[in-house]
Amino acid sequence: MAEQARLIDIYIMGRQCQVPEGLTILTALEYCGYRMIRGCGCRAGFCGACATIYNFKSDPQLRYDLACQKTVEPEMCLVQVPYFPAVKAIYNLEKLKSNGATIKALYPDIVKCFGCNTCTKTCPQELEVMWFMSDALRGDVKAVVEKSFDCVMCGLCAARCPQGLVPYNVALLCRRIYGRYLASASAHLEERIAEIEEGKFDAEIDKLKRLNDKELRRRYTERDMESALEQHWE
Ligand code: FES
Repeated sequence: MAEQARLIDIYIMGRQCQVPEGLTILTALEYCGYRMIRGCGCRAGFCGACATIYNFKSDPQLRYDLACQKTVEPEMCLVQVPYFPAVKAIYNLEKLKSNGATIKALYPDIVKCFGCNTCTKTCPQELEVMWFMSDALRGDVKAVVEKSFDCVMCGLCAARCPQGLVPYNVALLCRRIYGRYLASASAHLEERIAEIEEGKFDAEIDKLKRLNDKELRRRYTERDMESALEQHWE
């Protein structure tokens, strides 16, 4: 007979629940009957929708993680932060100047950073948030892009900043400026776009469209994956 997982006590928004050990916070929430509409997206650590703050009954220090990645632990007390009302500058990327001054023009408050490093300590991706904010202050777009590349936009850095700064939105602006104006053109991408426009894949796509759900799923799970994403900054 299969061994049953040990049940542990956790506290979801103040409600005591028993869940099997080994579940992620996200699956534990669902196990307890929460239907995740907000606060759940990719389930794979990429979309940043499942930001969670937690501590333990015997340890009040706050911790931060993604619910789809973090495994539940005994006596964990957790709350979800599916949305944080952070400042977000409105801009037309096509009309922006591709230099560092744009960052300060759109997010003038970044000068208020006093280097407490709470943003870095909060980031579930373990990014050097305070350091990329300092790069942003100096107008170094490329440095911000490199340091914030793995940001999943969960918003926890903004939720914890005592100065009300929005590191994740500042970093998004820099990645947009970099992608639109500063990154060198990718020959591979240009070639692929030309192939698509010439109709090279039309027959294959037509064939895929005629497949049933089961066959599509099989092909999706058995597809070749790129071994690793290489970052090309130059
Ligand atoms: S659900 Fe997308 S990062 Fe957790």
